[in-house]
Amino acid sequence: MKLFIDTANTEEIVITENMGIICGVTTNPTLLSREGHNPREMACKIADIVNGPVSYEAVSTDADGIVREGKEIAAIATNMVVKVAMTSEGLKAIKRLSELGIKTNATLIFNENQALLAARAGATYVSIFIGRLVDRGVDAIGITRNIRMIFDTNDIEAEIIAASIRNTEQVTQCALAGAHIATVPYRVLTEMVEHPLTTAGIEKFMEDWKKVSEK
Ligand code: G3P
Repeated sequence: MKLFIDTANTEEIVITENMGIICGVTTNPTLLSREGHNPREMACKIADIVNGPVSYEAVSTDADGIVREGKEIAAIATNMVVKVAMTSEGLKAIKRLSELGIKTNATLIFNENQALLAARAGATYVSIFIGRLVDRGVDAIGITRNIRMIFDTNDIEAEIIAASIRNTEQVTQCALAGAHIATVPYRVLTEMVEHPLTTAGIEKFMEDWKKVSEK
């Protein structure tokens, strides 16, 4: 499973990019609004930092509007991906954008049928919102596993992005369930680095090294 970072914060993107752990970025209107700068300028900066795909959401609700926005987003940089909400108008827009060779990320996917529809419309990525489903007591990991099975059985090329990730355990579970990508917040990525036995092990090695290096 590949890892993207789910953020619009350029510092977080630079840090994780320098660690070599991420190969893409997903943003959404909420994440962009938190940064308080011009969103298109931020997208431009982000697309410059990472080589991989950068998802940026079209906010129009009609297909014509989404396609118009999608063309503008795609023109920001070659690695831009147009995020499109899962609606009937969104599906129409995904179809038209994919015919134009513009990559799309169908977002706000909550079940197998929505994922299948988005993939059939031509989405490059389908984003299943794990945390928001778990918040409601739904087996989001089971749904992810089913989507992967449906895609594999039907030779569907769209990649599954596990989004709305709340903790490190969900990252592991999504990897086991067959998500192609997890888009993970910075806090969770940093928590994935750590283990108490790693910290204790480093301390012990340092302590012992001091003894021998003084000889
Ligand atoms: O970018 C979509 C998704 O990751 C949002 O997550 O935490 O708002 O459910 P969250």
